[in-house]
Amino acid sequence: AQTLNTLLVGALERAFPEAASAARQAGVPLDPQLGPASKPEFGDFQANGAMALARPLRQAPRQIATAIVAQLEADPAFAALCLPPEIAGPGFINLTLRPEVLAAEVARCLADPRLGVEAVAGGGAPVVVDFSSPNIAKEMHVGHLRSTIIGDALARVLEFRGHPVLRLNHVGDWGTQFGMLITHLKLVAPEALTTADAVDLGDLVAFYRQAKARFDSDETFQTTSREEVVKLQSGDPTSRRAWQLLCDQSRREFQRLYDRLDIRLDERGESFYNPYLEAVVADLAAAGLLVSDGGAQCVFLEGEDGTARQAPPVIVRKSDGGFNYATTDLAAIRYRFAAPPEGDGARRVIYVTDAGQASHFAGVFQVARRAGWIPDDGRLEHVPFGLVQGEDGKKLKTRSGDTVRLKELLDEAVERCEADLRRRLAEEERQEDESFIEEVATTVGLAAVKYADLSTNRITNYQFSFDRMLALSGNTAPYLLYAVVRIAGIARRGGANAAGVAFPEPLVFGEPQEWALVRQLLQFDAVILEVEQELLPNRLCSYLFELSQVFNRFYDQVPVLKAEDPARGSRLALCRLTADTLKLGLGLLGIPTLERM
Ligand code: ARG
Repeated sequence: AQTLNTLLVGALERAFPEAASAARQAGVPLDPQLGPASKPEFGDFQANGAMALARPLRQAPRQIATAIVAQLEADPAFAALCLPPEIAGPGFINLTLRPEVLAAEVARCLADPRLGVEAVAGGGAPVVVDFSSPNIAKEMHVGHLRSTIIGDALARVLEFRGHPVLRLNHVGDWGTQFGMLITHLKLVAPEALTTADAVDLGDLVAFYRQAKARFDSDETFQTTSREEVVKLQSGDPTSRRAWQLLCDQSRREFQRLYDRLDIRLDERGESFYNPYLEAVVADLAAAGLLVSDGGAQCVFLEGEDGTARQAPPVIVRKSDGGFNYATTDLAAIRYRFAAPPEGDGARRVIYVTDAGQASHFAGVFQVARRAGWIPDDGRLEHVPFGLVQGEDGKKLKTRSGDTVRLKELLDEAVERCEADLRRRLAEEERQEDESFIEEVATTVGLAAVKYADLSTNRITNYQFSFDRMLALSGNTAPYLLYAVVRIAGIARRGGANAAGVAFPEPLVFGEPQEWALVRQLLQFDAVILEVEQELLPNRLCSYLFELSQVFNRFYDQVPVLKAEDPARGSRLALCRLTADTLKLGLGLLGIPTLERM
């Protein structure tokens, strides 16, 4: 209903020209403050702008609202859209769309592959989504899984809106841990360093543990490791080769998981920014921000009001001359906003990590702003999320107390789905072949893991529970997927495949359940725009869940296939638009749907 919105805003702005000039003189931005109605009985929209005008116009807000309403009613374009408006409370203007306008909107969405969601004009500035970002040779843990799933969903929404999105995997492929890893590699697999072939180093997590154990217990090993860091940084070919091998091995393992989850990422690890670290320090020095503190180069942070803050400073260069995580992130910000070719030319940069990194990002964002790297219209956003916990509210562990391997976690979700499905098939005495069972179990299992992650408000900690995420009722992936399957069944029984039905023109609705579904369907575009701005995928989840509920209520209470035309065709149109909306919405969450399950 974006166009509807635009039309309404136009009508509202036309409706108070006098108010407009007086308000403009008073320096008040003229904003009708059009938003969705706060309650269904208030209609579809409400415009709250009269209130803000009361003071500059020195009039009672109700009086202003009355004048606006009189103007609106005299405007034929407005009258074609809405029923006569009502004034409520101190001066809210309640707007109710005409039934035929709503029905025409449904028809318009139905004919539009974007379902009424407008795309931003092409060729806009890139948006960076920095997500997943595990560390080489370390375990990719549930926190990274969360970042992967949330980041992918945000990237999909932004892409759908037409933004060029850079999906960047900021892998931890640099740092002092490589000293010990390379030293260990040279000891246990020296042959790997001399062949030109790809080498399988086996389980890297075990490899990391062995290297760490050795580092902690063996002093010579420690010294060699430290020297190894210096060698690697100075570009020694053997050290580089060892580093490359370790990165390749990790990359292959990460990629298996991304493939399985259907997630696309472009790797641009920390090492990419090495050539820009010196320039970061130079810029900060030139801006007068660097302070030497115990040999380290730091930037002290300011409070909101420009006063010095208690937070620890951002260390840009350690006393031993080395750079750190923060320096790399500063170089990354600088690069991402800089104009091509020596930068990405982005205008919005989004980081998806656990909330534990909030102060890190607050610090580097502030330094980047003060260094002047962020254009005025540039947005830097940290998208934090809470911890993944076990059902006991503690850190997620396996039954035996080990950390959970992501592969095993996904396997278990799929296995449980398969068992549920086989049980259901036996109960219903249904015969299905193995390929069907595999497809359904895989789709539902992975969907459940993703959806559980996306549907909770990401800021709160989240308790991982297979039972809850796989339940057929409640705000779960199986419930939503099942709604799509239900509608696919209706379309099949409707005697035509869903795409082949010709719907009546105009569509006609009468039942309250129909109107409830129409109104819910027409909110889709507003929800997408909200996710684009607020970066909260759980809003989209709640919307889709509500849509399924409103749909189920409609379908349980209003006959569809047994109705007479034009009601039958109009109701089939609602079924079809519901299915299309669920499919598109779930698709934006990275979840494919099924025709049968
Ligand atoms: N590698 C980091 C970690 O595992 C996450 C990196 C997030 N992105 C960034 N630009 N700092 O915690």
